[in-house]
Amino acid sequence: MKDIVFSGVQPTHSLHIGNYIGALKQWAHIQQQHHCYFCIVDEHAITVPHDPTTLRQRIQLVAAIYLAAGIDPKKSILFVQSEVPQHTELGWLLMTIAKMGELERMTQYKDKSRKGGASGASLGLFGYPVLMAADILLYDTSIVPVGEDQLQHVELARVLARRFNERYGDTFVIPQPLIQQFGARIMSLQDPSVKMSKSDEHEMAAVFLTDEDDVIRKKIMRAVTDSEAGIVYDAEKKPAVSNLMTIYHHMTGQTMKEIEAAFDDKGYGDFKKALAEAVITHVGPIRAKIQGYLDDPTELNKTLDAGRDKALAVAEAKMKIVRNKMGLGR
Ligand code: TYM
Repeated sequence: MKDIVFSGVQPTHSLHIGNYIGALKQWAHIQQQHHCYFCIVDEHAITVPHDPTTLRQRIQLVAAIYLAAGIDPKKSILFVQSEVPQHTELGWLLMTIAKMGELERMTQYKDKSRKGGASGASLGLFGYPVLMAADILLYDTSIVPVGEDQLQHVELARVLARRFNERYGDTFVIPQPLIQQFGARIMSLQDPSVKMSKSDEHEMAAVFLTDEDDVIRKKIMRAVTDSEAGIVYDAEKKPAVSNLMTIYHHMTGQTMKEIEAAFDDKGYGDFKKALAEAVITHVGPIRAKIQGYLDDPTELNKTLDAGRDKALAVAEAKMKIVRNKMGLGR
């Protein structure tokens, strides 16, 4: 039997190779076996200050990236979150069973609210994980393929599903996160102690899927390395080179042992040169496809329209059950 899979990305920027390795690359694989929903979560993107015109452009850009990364609209349902209003409706209903203490413990909230001070953070930023739980639970999702930073949010979705089921009777499937052994947390190229992030102020920290070849080359050649030489995988002792090796593994399909053997007598300079070429070889064709989809918005919009219609039908059928269980309406 096919499992139901749900995942999403915020259209807050172009996507970087951390998003690609941690999420999209897995999605392209998992869609071969399961029934998948891949969402562009624009309502999550407005929990921090945003520019409306830019947001709309980025929704198109992320849709193009999904397709270019191999998400096949014949196999998977691609849609924009705000076009299926049942997400915010279920988000509100789940707010009534979520606890303040649970949300206060969320590290993403703590990190993001620290910047402007917790009292200045929006209620939307605080409730962000509840909307994410709604995204997941609406479709009877059993698998959520994400990077490691989203594990805490998926755990909350599990807690809320169980609590709802206990209070109102069996309604939601309890979802499982799916993360991979290597690549669940790609680190910044400039500081291997922090994850690669779309909003990193250091322009050399992340390689974006839309970066040109010479920009990719520059970013990789300037990536920091560890004090001790040698191309050896050891995430604890050699975090910088282990991160670069993880990226190399995903770009070429070579195992860590194979990479270590190939660069046994080589230095960081040679390895970074090979890595830059591997990233360019893998990302170059994706970049060209992204541009192709952006140049033909008709095709892109057709895909998103069809995805929206399928998602709407499933989401509304589920909401009828949920409203009924909670005693809402007449
Ligand atoms: P977002 O937009 O921050 O990231 C999208 C996906 O990329 C993964 N990711 C990473 N993986 C490895 N290394 C990194 N450095 C890295 N940075 C990001 C994320 O874990 C994620 O899988 N809250 C989510 C979006 C969301 C969602 C959902 C996801 C909303 N509703 C429902 C799954 C299911 C987010 O902000 O992702």
